[in-house]
This record gives sequence, structure tokens and C-alpha cells, in this order.
Amino acid sequence: MGLRNTLVVMTLLLSGAASLESQAFFNETGDLPCHFPNSRNRSLDELVIFWQDQNKLVLYELYRGQENPHNVHPKYIGRTSFDQDSWTLRLHNVQIKDKGSYQCFIHYKGPQGLVPIHQMSSDLSVLANFSQPEINLIPNQTENSNIINLTCSSTQGYPEPQRMYILLKTKNSTTEYDTVMKKSQNNITELYNISISMSFSIPPETNVSIFCVLQLEPTKTLLFSPPCNIDAKPPVPSPPVPDHILWIAALLVTLVVVCGMVFFLTLKKRKKQQPGPSKECETIKVEGTESEQTEKRVELQEPERSDEAQCDINISKTASGDKSATHF
Ligand SMILES: *[C@@H]1O[C@H](CO)[C@@H](O)[C@H](O)[C@H]1NC(C)=O
Ligand SMILES: *[C@@H]1O[C@H](CO)[C@@H](O)[C@H](O)[C@H]1NC(C)=O
Ligand SMILES: *[C@@H]1O[C@H](CO)[C@@H](O)[C@H](O)[C@H]1NC(C)=O
Ligand SMILES: *[C@@H]1O[C@H](CO)[C@@H](O)[C@H](O)[C@H]1NC(C)=O
Ligand SMILES: *[C@@H]1O[C@H](CO)[C@@H](O)[C@H](O)[C@H]1NC(C)=O
Ligand SMILES: *[C@@H]1O[C@H](CO)[C@@H](O)[C@H](O)[C@H]1NC(C)=O
Ligand SMILES: *[C@@H]1O[C@H](CO)[C@@H](O)[C@H](O)[C@H]1NC(C)=O
Ligand SMILES: *[C@@H]1O[C@H](CO)[C@@H](O)[C@H](O)[C@H]1NC(C)=O
Ligand SMILES: *[C@@H]1O[C@H](CO)[C@@H](O)[C@H](O)[C@H]1NC(C)=O
Repeated sequence: MGLRNTLVVMTLLLSGAASLESQAFFNETGDLPCHFPNSRNRSLDELVIFWQDQNKLVLYELYRGQENPHNVHPKYIGRTSFDQDSWTLRLHNVQIKDKGSYQCFIHYKGPQGLVPIHQMSSDLSVLANFSQPEINLIPNQTENSNIINLTCSSTQGYPEPQRMYILLKTKNSTTEYDTVMKKSQNNITELYNISISMSFSIPPETNVSIFCVLQLEPTKTLLFSPPCNIDAKPPVPSPPVPDHILWIAALLVTLVVVCGMVFFLTLKKRKKQQPGPSKECETIKVEGTESEQTEKRVELQEPERSDEAQCDINISKTASGDKSATHF
């Protein structure tokens, strides 16, 4: 076991020392270098040049200056071009399956037959840029709570990213929300789609910006979604606790005022008449419904004021529709 590991490491070291790293974007062109020094200034007429993939399939062959498609594997036909100046083979329309190691061989075609004079390995890695992450707010059917339910997605990338998470920024704080990312891989292109869906509460009293962040694997770079801004809710309609407090406060104020008035009137009238206690309740009731009406008026303005979900117009529309439906 130990010996085998050592051997693997040695092989890696040896191959690493001898091979070149090359990177290509999905659907674009990759370079497979050969780095032939040509110190003896051989002409192409004297050389046989070819490239093989890790399965020994031939990508390209130049036989004494003439392209020889005879040995080329069908999957590489029409996908390569040879750059004579840099001794580099270009592989077009790179797919994820094309990642791997390649070798170029150069033989000298002399009177005594073929003599190998140069060999080079290169490792091709393939990348596909994930689309910019996109946040979708899912409207909550049950009333406008402080719970935000959202999904975020990014498509058609490679390799598999490290993680996707949500950043919640307020004026004085940044909170990170992590969850398991869902990935689906296209079985033909091998590209990944990534998404997360989560719900969390937002502070109602401050403006918040929600970002979705995709952390990529090889470079550890971060890909940010456009921000989703949610403005602070006007304090009056935010349910349920402040509502009750306001209601009770209104009642208390009314009660104090009415009691004061009644007390004053009673004092005034005591000299002439006895007070009627049933009137007190009536006044309180009238005052109570009035304050309810003012509250409703404020609530009705709310859908216009809080422009939620700037990140998704459709959802914002249905969300405000829901709200007015519940309030009407
Ligand atoms: C590949 O590139 C071509 C144009 O170069 C484009 O039409 C095609 O949509 C691309 N395919 C993918 C899967 O990106
Ligand atoms: C290499 O050979 C070509 C002709 O085959 C000649 O034109 C060129 O000057 C030579 N270059 C060097 C560096 O010897
Ligand atoms: C992919 O992203 C990198 C870095 O952001 C950029 O340099 C490159 O041009 C992009 N490639 C494609 C094919 O979009
Ligand atoms: C809507 O919000 C309430 C809390 O106000 C929560 O219990 C419920 O699960 C949420 N529903 C959805 C679909 O997000
Ligand atoms: C968030 O929305 C999704 C889709 O409507 C739903 O399946 C999920 O239960 C919601 N989560 C919460 C916590 O409400
Ligand atoms: C952020 O600021 C608000 C007032 O602007 C304050 O009430 C709150 O406690 C602060 N939060 C933190 C985490 O400092
Ligand atoms: C990935 O997303 C693209 C664009 O939204 C879609 O066309 C494709 O079907 C998705 N692929 C998978 C495997 O989910
Ligand atoms: C790709 O996956 C789909 C469904 O998962 C399957 O129907 C299809 O046969 C697969 N194609 C290949 C080439 O494996
Ligand atoms: C929230 O943002 C709006 C503008 O989008 C601004 O008018 C308002 O003052 C902000 N409120 C707070 C509490 O920062």
C-alpha cells in the first residue's frame, strides 16, 4: 500500500515535470502544444508529426508536410488545425470529454526510416463559465411575513462549483445563509446546473440587499448575483406584535381622553345631574372602529410603498396582488 502510493506520487511527479498545462473553454478552441525546438532546422518535408489522446486515438497527422487523415480518429476529423509557427495543434469546439492528456510525437524521416526526435505531453483542462446567479423570490401565500423564501440558480458551468450561498446585507451587518446545493449534470455536455432554495427571516425595520454567491472550485473566485433589494417596511402595518401594541395604545389614549372628559363633565354636571355610565362604552366603541379604519387606510398604501422583489417583476406583481386581496 505504502509502496504503491509512493509509486503513484513518483509517476505524478514525473509526468508533471514532463507535461504542459493547457486550459480551454467549453465550445471554444484549445491548444495542444508540442514545443519542438527544431535545433537542426529540419523542414516539414523531413518530418512526421502526430498527436494522440490518452486513449492513443490520433487527432492529427502531418506526413512529410502533407496532412494524412487516414489514421485520424473520426471524432477528431475536422476539429483540428496545425499552427506551423508554434508547433501547436488547435482543437476546436472543445467538449468537457476532451479534458485529459495529449501527446505529440515528431519523427525524422531519414534514409534509415523513422527516428523519434521529439515528444511532449500536455494536459488539457476544460472550463465553462457558470451564468451569473439569479435570485427568484417565491411569494409567501400566507400574508406578508418577514420570512423570505427564495431560490437561486446558475447554469451551464464546469467544473462543479464549491458552494452557493446567500448574503443578506443591511446597513450595519452581513449575514451568510448556507444550504445544500442542488446540482444537475447534463449527460451529454456534462455541464452543471446549480441551484439552492431556502427561506430565512429578514429584519423588517431596515433596508436589506440579498445577494446569491457562487464560489467556483478551481480559482476560488466568487460570482455574485445582482442584488435583490427589499426596502424597510413602514412601521405601522408590520404584523402581528406592533399592530396589537398600536391598537392597545390607541384604545388606552382614547380611554384616558374619554375618561378625562367624562370625569371633567361629571365634575361639572355633578352639581346639577347624575352621570350616565352607558354612554362611556358607546364613545369607546365609536372611537375604536374609527382607529381601525385609519389603520386600514395606512395598510392599503403599503403595496405601493414597499416595492419588494426588484429582482423579479412578475413575482412582485403577484405578491402585491395577494396583499391587496387580503386587505380588501
Ligand atoms: C457553441 O458555440 C456556437 C457558436 O460558436 C453557438 O452557436 C452554440 O450555441 C454554442 N453551444 C453551447 C452549448 O454553448
Ligand atoms: C532553416 O532552413 C531554412 C530553409 O530550409 C532557411 O531558410 C532558414 O534560414 C534556416 N534557419 C536557420 C536558423 O538556420
Ligand atoms: C469566462 O470567465 C473568464 C473570467 O471571468 C473570462 O476571462 C472568460 O473570457 C470567460 N469565457 C467565456 C467563454 O465566457
Ligand atoms: C409563509 O410565512 C409563514 C410565517 O409567516 C410561514 O409559517 C409559512 O411557512 C410561509 N409559507 C411559505 C410557502 O413560505
Ligand atoms: C419555500 O417555497 C417552496 C416552494 O413554494 C416550498 O416548497 C417550501 O416549503 C417553502 N419553504 C418554506 C420554509 O416555507
Ligand atoms: C444595526 O443598527 C441598528 C440601528 O441602526 C441597531 O438597532 C442594530 O442593533 C444594529 N445591529 C447590529 C448587529 O449592530
Ligand atoms: C440547465 O439549465 C438550462 C438553462 O436553463 C436548461 O436548458 C437545461 O435543461 C438545464 N439542464 C439540466 C441538466 O438541468
Ligand atoms: C440522458 O439522461 C436522460 C434522462 O436522465 C436519458 O433519457 C437519456 O437516455 C440520457 N442520454 C444519454 C446519452 O445517456
Ligand atoms: C430604504 O431605502 C429607501 C430608498 O430605496 C430610502 O428612501 C429609505 O430611507 C431607506 N430606509 C432606511 C431605513 O434606510
